[in-house]
Amino acid sequence: MAVEQQTLQGRRVGVEEGLRRGLRNFWHPILQSKNLGAGPLGLRRLGEDLVLWRDGQGRPHLFPDRCPHRGARLSLGRIQGDLLACWYHGFEFAGSGECRSVPVEGAESKLITRLTLPSYPVEEHWGLIWAYIGEVDLFPPPPLRLPEELVDPAWSGFICEAHWPANWTLVFDNLADPMHGPFLHSRSYTLGKGLKFDRLHVRELEDGFIVERELQRGVNFDWSEVHLGGLAWFRIDIPYPWFAGPGGPLRILGFATPLDAEHSLIYFLRLRRSSGWRRALWRFLYRTFWEDQHWKVIEQDRVMLESQRGLDSRLFEHHAQSDVGVIHLRGLLNREYARQQERYRQAATRGPVRHPSEAEAEERPV
Ligand code: FES
Ligand SMILES: [Fe+2]
Repeated sequence: MAVEQQTLQGRRVGVEEGLRRGLRNFWHPILQSKNLGAGPLGLRRLGEDLVLWRDGQGRPHLFPDRCPHRGARLSLGRIQGDLLACWYHGFEFAGSGECRSVPVEGAESKLITRLTLPSYPVEEHWGLIWAYIGEVDLFPPPPLRLPEELVDPAWSGFICEAHWPANWTLVFDNLADPMHGPFLHSRSYTLGKGLKFDRLHVRELEDGFIVERELQRGVNFDWSEVHLGGLAWFRIDIPYPWFAGPGGPLRILGFATPLDAEHSLIYFLRLRRSSGWRRALWRFLYRTFWEDQHWKVIEQDRVMLESQRGLDSRLFEHHAQSDVGVIHLRGLLNREYARQQERYRQAATRGPVRHPSEAEAEERPV
């Protein structure tokens, strides 16, 4: 697919059309568990309309929100035991995506065995529902590898959720850019501290990289870890002042799930490593004081990202040395996207992969 935009010098600065809607064949946090009730829920993630629902045993499932019969939204349907039933003609689907009932044809229906919906793998951890959105046959999902803070009970924290009218890559750029801290957040408790100039360097990690300042550490937002091992996430430490109580810096794990090319769902998981009364004190202080302060900081990021007015901002960029993390990250995302596109192209040369419902539609009289 062609790059949409070029600069005057022919630099490649555009974001591939597909990539604007998100990186498929990756795990993404898509919803807080508490927001999925007893009925099916329609959502848009990565520009795709999806239906998320829990079966009778509470297990979440995720399908495209389109019934393979005649295209009605499955999110308007009903859950009946372990099956999701379309409202229009009552076709029923199991969590695997297999059709289990075509009531209009009765028990003898042959269509049942030929209808299967794509079922995206879903897991639930730490109060969030995580989904692997992509082509499972072509890109077998890797195990969901969560940040260790979400697995190790020594850490305790909170989910902060935000919806920003900004493309997800702008959110990623922001998280890989420690030098905005002392400027944009200069009036917060610690983020205005330290030097306002620095050199940054990138160090490779097993599944990503760290971008870090050379002249200071532990003073401000001085480094950012970027992980792209099947799940894209960021690790950042924010120094806390003494009156935040014991427990070291605030650890932030950042995620940005594209809703579509212009909107993102942001999760900042805020954690501290503490136990006993220290943990209780931190949780109390967070709820009564720090949460509001952090919201003020995040709002500053939102205002800046909105002010960039979309991905066209890339056409007018002039990078500073401090953008080395942003550039490195964009390179990794572009290469991953190109790798996937090559795989899609190879698969297409083996013949079109048609959805069973399409094949069916051609064979049956209208
Ligand atoms: S459109 Fe869903 S059962 Fe007919
Ligand atoms: Fe920020």
